[in-house]
Amino acid sequence: MRLQGRSVVVTGAAGAIGQETARQLLKAGASRLLLTDLPRSGVDAVAETLRDGHFEIASAEIDVADPAAFVDVLAEHQAFLGSIDVLVNVAGYWQIIDFVASDADQWDLMIRANLLTAISACHSVLPQMLTQGRGSIVNFASTAGEYGSIRPSAAYAAAKGGVIAFTKSLAREVSPRGVRVNAISPGPIDTPALKAASDEARAGAAARTLVGRLGLPADIASGVVYLASDESSFMTGAVLAVNGGSLL
Ligand SMILES: NC(=O)c1ccc[n+]([C@@H]2O[C@H](COP(=O)([O-])OP(=O)(O)OC[C@H]3O[C@@H](n4cnc5c(N)ncnc54)[C@H](O)[C@@H]3O)[C@@H](O)[C@H]2O)c1
Repeated sequence: MRLQGRSVVVTGAAGAIGQETARQLLKAGASRLLLTDLPRSGVDAVAETLRDGHFEIASAEIDVADPAAFVDVLAEHQAFLGSIDVLVNVAGYWQIIDFVASDADQWDLMIRANLLTAISACHSVLPQMLTQGRGSIVNFASTAGEYGSIRPSAAYAAAKGGVIAFTKSLAREVSPRGVRVNAISPGPIDTPALKAASDEARAGAAARTLVGRLGLPADIASGVVYLASDESSFMTGAVLAVNGGSLL
């Protein structure tokens, strides 16, 4: 029960990795969860399923990249949450896009979904975490942000690289005041985005790992629980690579 008594906010909670992350946070003892995702993402239904009659779970449908909306949602749930001990920024969006053929709307979407969500959510929770003098933030990077995207998605890679730089810089600013900021960097994970790829692309992604398989949402969620909990209390500004050794 590594997270017993903790209040946790999760973005992108209706997605494949977000749902499994929420499940593992509960399993690790998290006492209160606020799950957020875009309108029409179905996050309310996800919360209902996970709640199963006994867990303290609230949900909100908002665009997390809009800081005013996120601050409002936190204010609405302040009594429910009490403290904010952990923020997990799972929200993101990926698509294969030929860069030369791409346009400004597509770059905007990638930066907004992958980088602005993390910046906006961190900015919204930090006043309370700093007042508490404690907190743990887990941002979502990607191997694309560390090494460049293998399949065409340069704006996505730029946004995820931005998440890494943001995480390290923010750790420098706030960790001396008690708030740890880390990132998890998934490799190829068997989620709907990858399920839609061709058999050849999936086999290629699995073959690039040293363990010979695609990752599972549970592989990522357990890394998140570790970064969220006190077990990682000597880690901040770190990027936890969970990629099966795919880019060694
Ligand atoms: N699946 C992979 O192989 C893989 C690999 C590397 C990194 N990642 C990262 O892991 C995270 C989760 O990936 P996933 O496969 O579960 O994706 P997913 O698409 O299933 O889930 C992402 C969720 O984020 C939400 N979201 C997007 N923009 C948002 C916004 N502005 N406000 C609120 N919610 C927003 C989406 O609605 C969606 O439910 C993402 O950040 C992704 O970039 C995934």
